[in-house]
Amino acid sequence: MSAIRVKNLIYEVPNKRILNDITLEINQGEVVSIMGGSGSGKTSLLRMMSGLRRPTSGEIWIDNENIAAMDDHELDERRLKIGLVFQYAALFDSLDVYDNIVFSLTRHNRKLKREQLDQVVRDRLAQVQLEGTEHLFPSELSGGMQKRIGLARALATEPSLVFYDEPTSGLDPLTARAIDDLILETRKRNGVTSVVVSHHIPSIFRISDRIAMIAEGEIVIFDTPDAVRKSDNPTVREFIAPDLEKG
Ligand SMILES: Nc1ncnc2c1ncn2[C@@H]1O[C@H](COP(=O)(O)OP(=O)(O)O)[C@@H](O)[C@H]1O
Ligand SMILES: [Mg+2]
Repeated sequence: MSAIRVKNLIYEVPNKRILNDITLEINQGEVVSIMGGSGSGKTSLLRMMSGLRRPTSGEIWIDNENIAAMDDHELDERRLKIGLVFQYAALFDSLDVYDNIVFSLTRHNRKLKREQLDQVVRDRLAQVQLEGTEHLFPSELSGGMQKRIGLARALATEPSLVFYDEPTSGLDPLTARAIDDLILETRKRNGVTSVVVSHHIPSIFRISDRIAMIAEGEIVIFDTPDAVRKSDNPTVREFIAPDLEKG
């Protein structure tokens, strides 16, 4: 069963085509990474797949609904089932960890009781191994902790799909590895489908079931890590070779 199906997606801004006829299908429970040079269109694709931005044309099917054709209200409801972990943790600086985690939940359902919210916060903090941080503010957290709180927040609504944009950028290698492990653990525990935008090649090869590469707005390969590693496509080789040789 596919979790998300993108068909003939085109994204244009004035005077520029950013994504050109993207078609891809991601299976339920898969971890798929999207790699590519900076400016290749990774974040744009992620924003459209998560319903944050509409494509110029094309279809994005999630659970038999084309989210590219939804009106704003439908899309807002739909996005509850989609978790997003942004490039910069994007926590609300003026809210503490607790209020950051329950933000989307309370926005969509004002009737939730305090005990229910407490439970969600406790569960999610345990999952990202940051128990007891409820009353800290983002400025009191390290970069790695902020990313983990970002993940806890994304999981609060129990999404079936989680999108990560550069979840390990700016982190030291050990912390980056811990975030990779958390992505895999989250997939295992919540059965979620995960789409990870990254340019960190070793991470990509470690966590992905399949890897897509975008160059100049087009998919140049979408295959298993092994097949990507063995690809003789020069664009792919040029992109991955330096990092794979480093190990
Ligand atoms: N709304 C926009 N208006 C103009 N240019 C944009 C817009 N969104 C993205 N771009 C451009 O599209 C290209 C792809 O951007 P992005 O999707 O952020 O790439 P990546 O995440 O791979 O670095 C970049 O050249 C960027 O400047
Ligand atoms: Mg980006």
